[in-house]
Amino acid sequence: MSWVVLVAAAGGVALISAFLMLLYIASLMASPKPFSLSGAHVVVTGGSSGIGKSIAVECFKQGAFITLLARNENRLLEAKKEIEKYAVNDKQVVHCISVDVSKDSADVERVLKQAQEKLGPIDMLVNSAGMSVTGKFEDLDTSSFEKLMAVNYLGSVYPTRAAITTMKERRMGRIVFVSSQAGQVGLFGYSAYSAAKFALRGLAEALQMEVKPYNVYVTVAYPSDTETPGFIEENKTKLLETRLISESSSPLYQPDYVARIIVKDAIQGKFSSSIGTDGHMLNILTSGMSPMNSLGEALETVICMGLFRLIGQYYTASFDSIVRRCMIQKEKSEKTD
Ligand SMILES: NC(=O)c1ccc[n+]([C@@H]2O[C@H](COP(=O)([O-])OP(=O)(O)OC[C@H]3O[C@@H](n4cnc5c(N)ncnc54)[C@H](OP(=O)(O)O)[C@@H]3O)[C@@H](O)[C@H]2O)c1
Ligand SMILES: *[C@@H]1O[C@H](CO)[C@@H](O)[C@H](O)[C@H]1NC(C)=O
Repeated sequence: MSWVVLVAAAGGVALISAFLMLLYIASLMASPKPFSLSGAHVVVTGGSSGIGKSIAVECFKQGAFITLLARNENRLLEAKKEIEKYAVNDKQVVHCISVDVSKDSADVERVLKQAQEKLGPIDMLVNSAGMSVTGKFEDLDTSSFEKLMAVNYLGSVYPTRAAITTMKERRMGRIVFVSSQAGQVGLFGYSAYSAAKFALRGLAEALQMEVKPYNVYVTVAYPSDTETPGFIEENKTKLLETRLISESSSPLYQPDYVARIIVKDAIQGKFSSSIGTDGHMLNILTSGMSPMNSLGEALETVICMGLFRLIGQYYTASFDSIVRRCMIQKEKSEKTD
């Protein structure tokens, strides 16, 4: 019978240590100082369309001054007009700058210097400029891999470099990276896109560790399919497998809803920002050693990680079966042709 006592004792010790560890982690999770968008200067790359535009609207509604960065001038001006409708006071300004965030870091630095001379130091930078190309790995041009890395990854590095020094000096600021669920899990058709969105997470984790002592907080957002002009365009050439997998795992969200959550999480200084129940579970499952957002999340991770791993595996298996079915279908239709 002595082994029963031993197992029980070991279990008890493990439980108590886990609890003490959790308390210790909780004590380390100092929450960031409160941050208000009223009168703040918010820069949004990719702010002329989709999620970026909705984030700009949300910040404007909370009293921020906005700088929008994107390439196409007409779309920038249209977005400016739309955002200005939501002014909450008559001092608020929307400033537009046409620039490619992925090409020349000196260019990006120059325009952000201009923006700060006009509207003051940047309080929050949202890196939302991005794009996706889908296709099977061997069908994608190598130029697509280069392009996606340039826009999604380097296009977030350059603006962040131009903003971070002043934020550290002022001991305040928020940096947001808009990644994707495809930046948490690699999926059929997304070999080029997923890699670039995964890169943002590594960047964000390292940067957060460096800037936290300066009261600067980094947020990585992992939205799933969102009905934006970019999504509708990409949907036209999306592989059947990719579309079926996406549709089977999460609903299509509206950009305003996604933007509200991202802005709220960024203000609170949350490291990971996810949308919906599916996003929340994926976030816990793929959290690795990323900073925790709250004690609730710590508890949930400890209790649910194993179960979520199983559910995740169920999804992986169902995605594999979608891929197999599409292949059989294709072979059949080729035979009858
Ligand atoms: N929609 C989704 O389903 C979804 C899901 C997960 C993640 N995301 C991510 O969310 C972000 C926004 O996506 P969205 O669907 O809202 O995109 P969107 O409607 O296509 O808008 C993209 C924005 O980025 C700008 N942009 C693109 N390339 C640029 C460059 N090289 N330099 C400067 N600006 C550039 C575009 O303006 P110009 O073309 O005029 O430059 C536009 O303002 C992206 O990072 C995307 O990967 C989207
Ligand atoms: C995406 O494309 C598919 C097929 O081409 C279509 O059935 C679906 O409605 C499209 N979705 C959106 C949001 O445009």
